[in-house]
Amino acid sequence: MTSTAIQEQAEVLRFPPGFVWGAATAAYQIEGAARDDGRAPSIWDTFARTPGKVFAGHTGDVACDHYHRYVDDVGLMADLGLDAYRFSVAWPRVQPDGSGPVNPRGLDFYDRLVDELCGRGIEPIVTLYHWDLPQTLEDRGGWPVRDVAAHFADYAAAVYGRLGDRVGTWTTLNEPWCAAFLGYAAGIHAPGRTEPGAAFAAAHHLLLGHGLATQALRAAGAGRVSLTLNLSPIVGAGPGAALVDGLLNRFFLDPVLRGRYPADILEHAARFTDLSFMRGGDVAVIATPIDVLGINYYSPSFVADGAHSPGDPAYPGTDGIAFLPATGATTAMGWPIEPAGLTALLERVARDYPGVPLIITENGAAFDDRVADGRVQDLDRVAYLDGHLRAAHEAISRGVDLRGYLVWSLLDNFEWAEGYRKRFGIVYVDYTSQRRMLKDSARWYREVIHNNGVGDS
Ligand code: FCB
Repeated sequence: MTSTAIQEQAEVLRFPPGFVWGAATAAYQIEGAARDDGRAPSIWDTFARTPGKVFAGHTGDVACDHYHRYVDDVGLMADLGLDAYRFSVAWPRVQPDGSGPVNPRGLDFYDRLVDELCGRGIEPIVTLYHWDLPQTLEDRGGWPVRDVAAHFADYAAAVYGRLGDRVGTWTTLNEPWCAAFLGYAAGIHAPGRTEPGAAFAAAHHLLLGHGLATQALRAAGAGRVSLTLNLSPIVGAGPGAALVDGLLNRFFLDPVLRGRYPADILEHAARFTDLSFMRGGDVAVIATPIDVLGINYYSPSFVADGAHSPGDPAYPGTDGIAFLPATGATTAMGWPIEPAGLTALLERVARDYPGVPLIITENGAAFDDRVADGRVQDLDRVAYLDGHLRAAHEAISRGVDLRGYLVWSLLDNFEWAEGYRKRFGIVYVDYTSQRRMLKDSARWYREVIHNNGVGDS
C-alpha cells in the first residue's frame, strides 16, 4: 500500500463490514400515475384536493412520475452504488377497495420494480404502509375502526404472495405516530380529522395491524419483518417531557418490544376515550417479535412547562406544556439540526429495548436548493448527513447494533402538506421536465458508500 493510500485509510471513519447503505422513498410522494392501471384514490388524494390542506394545492397526481421512470431511477441508484432501496407499496393500487379483490395490474408495477432492483444488485426493502389508506376504508371509518387492522394483514399477505420470492425485508408500517396523531388528532395530514380519542384508537389499530401483518408475513415465509417508528429525544425536564416522550416514543416502543402499553400514557389517553377498542390479547399480537426495528430520526423536540401554552394538538392533552422553537441552526423545515440527538436516541433504544437490531430507515434534510451552472451545491445537506453519520458511528462504537442507514430521500418529492416546495432529495427533480440531476450530496454519498465510511476530519 502506498503512503497516500494508508493515509486515506486512516482518514476514513469506517462502518462495520456489511453495513447497509441505501435511500428511501414512499409511493404517494414519488409515483404519480394516480389513476393508472386500476389504482383507486387514497386518503392523500382526497386530502390534497381539499382546499387549504396542502401548499398551493399540490397533489401527488404526477409527483416524480416514478411509475413510468422507475428504470432510469433504479439506474441512478446503481450509479450511486446503493446496497438497498426502501420504497413503499400503494395499498390502493393493490386493493382498490381496501379489502376484497386484488388488482394484479397494481402488483405488476412492483413486480417490475423489484426485478429491476435485483437485476442491478440492489436489495429491495418494502414498506407496506406509508400513509396512503384506500379512501374506501376511510369512508368506512378509517384506522379508528378495528376491521382495518385485519384488512391490512390481508393486503400484506397479497403483496407478499407476489414479491416474497425476491424481497427479504418487510416493513409493515411507516411512522404510525404520524398516521394516527397528525392524521386524526392534529388534522394536518390525511384524513385531516381532529378527534383526539379517535387518534388513540387509530394508533392502537395501526399497531394491531402491524402485529397481524407480521404474523401473516411470517406464516407465508417472510425472512425479516420490521416496523419503522419516528422517534425523537424529548429534551426538557419535568412531567411535560415525560408525557411527550410517552406519547411519541413509548406508546409505540413499549407494546411492540415489551408487550405492554405504558401505564401513564394509557391513563392519559383515558381522558379522551374509554379505551374499549383495546381488547384482551391485542397486545400479545402487537408484540409478535420483529427482526429489526427501523428508526426515522430528524431532530429532537424541546419542551418546558408553560402555564399558558395551548400545547400541540398532535400530542393530545399537552396544554400547559410549551413546545420550544429551535434556537440553533435549522433545516428549511425549521427543524433543529442536532446530530448528537441521533446518538442519544440510538443508545436509549438499545438500552431500554435490548435485543433487536436497529436500522436508520430515514434521516435527511430539506434545504433551499438552487440550480446554478447545471449544479446543486448543497453543502448544507452534505454537512447535515455527514454530522448524522458520525453520530450513528459514535453509537455503533458505544455498542449499538446498528445495521444500516437509508437517506431520506433519493429524490426531491411531494413533501405531504408542504407539497413540492420542500426538497429532501440527494437527487434534484425538475418537476416541469422531470429531469433528474445529482446534487453534490449525491456525489458525496457515493463516496461514503464506496469507502464504507465518512472522512475523518
Ligand atoms: C417522514 C416521512 C417521510 C418524509 C420525511 C421528511 O416523517 O416518513 O415520508 O416526509 O418525514
